[in-house]
Amino acid sequence: MTALTTPVGTDALADLARSSVSLITSLQHPSGAYPASPSFSAYQGYSWFRDGAFIADGVSSAGAVDSASRFFDWCQQMLVERRSRITEIVEAAAAGRPLPDDRMLPTRFTMEGAEGDDDWWDFQTDGYGTWVWAAVAHAERHGLDIARWRDGIALSVDYLAATWSRPCYDWWEEHREQVHVSTLLCIVAGLEAAVRSAAVDGDRADAARGAAAAARDLVTRRGVHDGHLSKWLGSTDVDGSLSAAIAPLGVIDATSPLGRASIRAVDDALDVEGGVHRFSFDTFYGGGQWPLLSCMLGLAYAAAGDRPAALARLQWAARTVTPEGYLPEQVPDHLLAPERRAEWVERWGGVATPLLWSHAMFVRLAVELGVITPEAAGEGA
Ligand code: BGC
Repeated sequence: MTALTTPVGTDALADLARSSVSLITSLQHPSGAYPASPSFSAYQGYSWFRDGAFIADGVSSAGAVDSASRFFDWCQQMLVERRSRITEIVEAAAAGRPLPDDRMLPTRFTMEGAEGDDDWWDFQTDGYGTWVWAAVAHAERHGLDIARWRDGIALSVDYLAATWSRPCYDWWEEHREQVHVSTLLCIVAGLEAAVRSAAVDGDRADAARGAAAAARDLVTRRGVHDGHLSKWLGSTDVDGSLSAAIAPLGVIDATSPLGRASIRAVDDALDVEGGVHRFSFDTFYGGGQWPLLSCMLGLAYAAAGDRPAALARLQWAARTVTPEGYLPEQVPDHLLAPERRAEWVERWGGVATPLLWSHAMFVRLAVELGVITPEAAGEGA
């Protein structure tokens, strides 16, 4: 559902896209990690593979080649430093005695690469697929040698081939008892990219191919309801994250019946005047609308050839900008559970602002729509 509101001019869209790239690169830690949000209490000091992979993809698309490469170097370092743990996880799974969730890799790391002392909803597998997909897309986009990230990609493939079918927390760090369709499709994206790029070969490439095919098959059999992708296996709901499987991940063809039905279902169930909710029963900060999800739906629309619908989501996202030029994690214009907002403000303070992932998705869609053209972004490639 799209609204008729005053359009934001192309220059203003382009300015916001450019300042978003600068904001992201200026906040990147010397280690290469991107903070999720520099000032938000619960996220401060941490970098997520999920957020970071999409952030790197966004700035890569705008020409910030070195910044994205340094993030992938950091991901690889996180994996290489945990090589023996990955080996234990893989061997235990192969022996039919999979290790418990608390022995799996974490979801976020401190900027310096530690696991941090704060409790978190760890064990989420999506980011280990998404970063591989983003690194391969980055190498392809800029003609870089994927060999630079071969070790990290190999370790990710081993880890995912051993863990892909396990229930785990989703993108929203909820429902650890389910197998989430978005998570599976992020893993498929990573495994297929690893094979395509020839970063892995031999038995490892066979394992990647096998796991990706099995995950696709599982989605087809149990992750589709009424012709569209569903939130988790067996669910009848959708989730805003599903747009990403269509674009930017590109694992579901936007013009296929499944792609078209999924775009329609996300739009019908979760889009209110261009602003997209995470899912219909969301209560986090009252369940507002997320600019990054509007941009992902916009990317899916662009991939399906519907430019006006894509531009409307970019415009909606632009209207969420604060006077300081920051894009928030969510806005409270249309809340699904208004009575649940105050408890989060009390617990963690105001909504995370700026959220680098929001800025990155804005950039990614702006580039896709030609609002800005990729440029050298003031750095050496
Ligand atoms: C979101 C995650 C995100 C994290 C950091 C959480 O509130 O649910 O998807 O990775 O914030 O931005």
